[in-house]
Amino acid sequence: MSRRAFAASDEEWTYHGGEFVKMSDIRLSPATHALNYGTGAFEGIRAYWSESRGTLQVLKMREHYERFEKSCRFLRIELPHTIDELCEITLEILRSNAPREDTYIRPLAYKSTTSVGVKLMGDDQLSIFTVPMGNYVELTGLRCCVSSWRRTPDCAIPARGKLTGSYINTALAVDEAQRAGYDDAIFLTQEGHVSEASAANIFLMRKGGLVTPPVTADILEGITRDAVIELAEKELGMPVIQRDVDRTELYAADEVFLTGTGFQIAPIIEVDGRPVGNREIGSVAGRLQELYFKAARGENPDYAYWTVTVEVAEKAAG
Ligand SMILES: Cc1ncc(COP(=O)(O)O)c(C=O)c1O
Repeated sequence: MSRRAFAASDEEWTYHGGEFVKMSDIRLSPATHALNYGTGAFEGIRAYWSESRGTLQVLKMREHYERFEKSCRFLRIELPHTIDELCEITLEILRSNAPREDTYIRPLAYKSTTSVGVKLMGDDQLSIFTVPMGNYVELTGLRCCVSSWRRTPDCAIPARGKLTGSYINTALAVDEAQRAGYDDAIFLTQEGHVSEASAANIFLMRKGGLVTPPVTADILEGITRDAVIELAEKELGMPVIQRDVDRTELYAADEVFLTGTGFQIAPIIEVDGRPVGNREIGSVAGRLQELYFKAARGENPDYAYWTVTVEVAEKAAG
């Protein structure tokens, strides 16, 4: 099954232009620079809902805003807030919207000038909005292909920045993969090594060890990737080797899985029509999924530092 789409509601509180407003109150000019030239930086942060505690756990919020700040730096976007302030604004939006379900937070900073001409000067704008988000992709086994589109090299568009324009690369690869009946696409670098999936990093189990492409393989330096490296080392005693990965290692691997804020930990059971392992969730991916969800949902005190808790008020009746 392909990925799900989650719509933003007009009724949600949003931070835009320095104030808290309803999504429906925001108007953007079609001449907005970022809309014409892809000059925006963004993040995707998850908050997990706990029914029993009546709280949301915001996962790795500071790490996401640290990466956001770097992405903005690439585009010479001046953020009007410190990382602490961005975290506080995010918590305020969540308290106002009070979602009682898993939620995705989308900070977006962009070139907002309305004059025509490609450059990185001019005004910047910051928006932060939320959408409900359950599982973005199936966690029970994806069927992937290697894309005919190569991952945009860092020397053309910063790969380690989460920049709006670079997602054309993602959209082309996902479109091709899904039209051919696959769930997702795996990119190779210009040199022909494995880079990452459409919007997730990739790990392989090979000869008893975990392997992932290095940060120089034109990947987005994933926060979930770091989380999985930490869990594998601490909980499974399995250091992750970061090295170049060849395409056919995907076919030879015992397990392959994807990691990302949206994807979470998503095992792959087939690559290019070839089974991965015995076409089932591998034991390492399964164990990591279990550990990850416990930590991300704030249910493992050893990983309390991964999350920030938000008390969610009951919605008034009527
Ligand atoms: C291109 C790309 N690679 C990797 C990832 C995974 O990054 P993270 O784990 O920080 O969400 C994402 C998702 O945000 C992505 O868009």
